[in-house]
Amino acid sequence: MISMPPFHLLCTLIGLLLLPLHINSADPDLLQDFCVADLKAPLSVNGFPCKPEAKVTSDDFFFDGLSKEGNTTNIFGWSVTAANVLAFPGLNSLGISMNRVDFAPGGLNPPHSHPRATETGVVIEGKLLVGFVTTSNVFHSKVLTVGQMFVVPKGLVHFQLNVGERKALLFTAFNSHLPGSAVVPTTLFASRPSIPDDVLTKAFQVGNDVIDNIKSKFSS
Ligand SMILES: *[C@@H]1O[C@H](CO)[C@@H](O)[C@H](O)[C@H]1NC(C)=O
Repeated sequence: MISMPPFHLLCTLIGLLLLPLHINSADPDLLQDFCVADLKAPLSVNGFPCKPEAKVTSDDFFFDGLSKEGNTTNIFGWSVTAANVLAFPGLNSLGISMNRVDFAPGGLNPPHSHPRATETGVVIEGKLLVGFVTTSNVFHSKVLTVGQMFVVPKGLVHFQLNVGERKALLFTAFNSHLPGSAVVPTTLFASRPSIPDDVLTKAFQVGNDVIDNIKSKFSS
C-alpha cells in the first residue's frame, strides 16, 4: 500500500515544480512606444497584426532601402535610414532591424538612446568616434575605422561623430523590430508642446536666454 507523503512535503514539491514559471512570469517587453488599452475593442495587439499567409510574397522578405546614401544636409550633418518594421514589414515580430547612418565630414549622430534595443554597428567607410555613457555616468568611447564594430547596451545614451577627413558610413543592427530613438537635444529642446523653461533652466543651471537660444536652433 502506498502511503501519502506528508502535506508539507507535497507543498514543497509543487513549489519547486512551479519555480521556473515564477521566474519567467515577467511582463513581455513592449514592441512600440505604448499600447493604450481600448477596453471595448474586440482585438488589440502589442505590435502589428500579420498579413494573411496566402498574400505573402518573396518581396516581403527583401528590402533595398539601405542601398541609397542619405541626405546629410542638416544641422547635424548626418542621416539615418531605418530598416525597421515600419519600413520593412517582413521584420514584424522577429526582434531584429538595422539602420544605415551616413555622415558628412564632421557629421554627428547626436546623443540618443533606444528604449527597446541593444545596438551593434560596423563602420563601412570613414572614421567615427563612438561613445556611450553608463547609468553610473562612466563614458566609454573609441575611434573606429573600416570593419571595426561596437556595441551599445540597451537604453544607454550614445553618439557617433565623424572624425575623419571624408564622409563616413555605418550600418547598425538592433534586437528589436522597432528600437525607437529618444534623441537627447530634440527630446529636451524641440518636443511638442515644449518642456517649460522652468524645468530646463533648473535642470541645466542656466538662464532662460540660454534655453531659448538652444530651443531656437531646433524651431524650424
Ligand atoms: C538634401 O536636403 C536639403 C535640405 O533639406 C535640400 O535642400 C536638398 O535639396 C537635399 N538634396 C537632395 C539631393 O535631395
